Amino acid sequence: MQAFLIEFGNMLLRWLHVIAAIAWIGESFYFVMLDNGLKKPASAEDARNGVAGEMWAVHGGGFYHNQKYASAPAKLPDDLHWSYLKAYTTWLSGFALFALLYLTRPEIYLVDPQSDWAWAAAMTGWQANIAALVFLALGWLIYNELCKRISPTMQRDGVLGVAVALMMVAVAYLATHIFAGRAAFVLVGAVMATAMTANVYFWIIPGQRRMVAAMMHGQTPDPLDGKRGKQRSVHNTYFTLPVVLLMLSNHYAFLYTDPYAWVVIVLFIVAGALIRQFFVSMHAGHIRPMFAIAGGLFIIAAFVLTAPLASLSSTPPGTDPATRTDTADATPFARVHDIIAQRCSECHAENPSSESFSAAPAGIMLDSDARIRAHRAQIKQAVASGYMPLGNITGITDEERQAIANWRADGS
Ligand code: HEC
Repeated sequence: MQAFLIEFGNMLLRWLHVIAAIAWIGESFYFVMLDNGLKKPASAEDARNGVAGEMWAVHGGGFYHNQKYASAPAKLPDDLHWSYLKAYTTWLSGFALFALLYLTRPEIYLVDPQSDWAWAAAMTGWQANIAALVFLALGWLIYNELCKRISPTMQRDGVLGVAVALMMVAVAYLATHIFAGRAAFVLVGAVMATAMTANVYFWIIPGQRRMVAAMMHGQTPDPLDGKRGKQRSVHNTYFTLPVVLLMLSNHYAFLYTDPYAWVVIVLFIVAGALIRQFFVSMHAGHIRPMFAIAGGLFIIAAFVLTAPLASLSSTPPGTDPATRTDTADATPFARVHDIIAQRCSECHAENPSSESFSAAPAGIMLDSDARIRAHRAQIKQAVASGYMPLGNITGITDEERQAIANWRADGS
């Protein structure tokens, strides 16, 4: 029952998280589009009153007329619309989901017993939990320091962009070496998403509050507040697409079980940022296909890297992927059956005996000969990549992995 309650809570939180994220990102996309698509005001009177740009739009059967002021309107209305609750809801629900799924079962989900770094492979569950939380916190602190030191008055935002990109390469490298692949991808996404939310919480919204307060008192707002808000918003814009992919990555084991998983992450971060740039330029009226093409090239690079062909040459013998046809002796099915009964069935059964699961994970049941045979390709892939058994909680041996690798389709 406890496993089911966790599962149900997980479902509700994920639902909330996705809805909040859609609302936040949707609004953010809308305002970036609006800002880039503004035209000079048509009426001379509007221009005299401080309107710098405007956009006409039709949506849902109505016509809309947006106007942006160069600095601030002469008088602010009391019912100003603010955007921040969606951002906070997204982060809070995402963090709760992470806690419920990963922090409650760190030895399964966070620890990578096959990590190249022995100390990481040897972490206990508690150590892994603390490592994950420290990782998230440090991600924000270092990113924030980079922004403050490199471009405090927004004068060197280009250099800052390069520094943030290099930081993300380091984050990807560290995450995939310290944590299990699936958690590593989510954590890299979470570092970016935490920076996005903290940008809103610590800089963008307080800056806007200061600007509004200054105007209420008839003073001129500090232009740095506006510029800094813009700087952080721009970062958020380029983070968006990579974060969405990293959060979805846990559906695609081929991404995070790749031997060069950190490179996969970097390729998709660059691809996402470039594709976003294509749309940002387009809203400003410039179609620049080279951004979309460059983004596409990075996706092709990720394809080449993760395709079974690439991993064939980069994995050591004995951990060969499912696609390899080798000359080693075929493993009899009875042996395959025994290994799976011993190492997999406690989770992958109609009624798992493992306390952590109330239903077969990923819907995969390996509790009968027919079911085991039906999942042959997936089993070989999951075992060869080291992804299964999760956290090697059931202690599969290298020799057993090799036996699964040598299991042929016709082996009876
Ligand atoms: C501790 C419980 C546990 C054990 C033991 C375990 N698995 Fe899994 N398995 C899971 C979970 C949880 C998932 C879903 C993970 C996900 O969503 O990425 C999964 C997913 C899978 C998948 C689908 C992977 C994909 O591509 O999405 C395969 C195949 C699989 N397991 C095979 C095995 C095999 C073979 C073994 C034994 C060698 C095994 N598992 C042992 C928990 C377990």
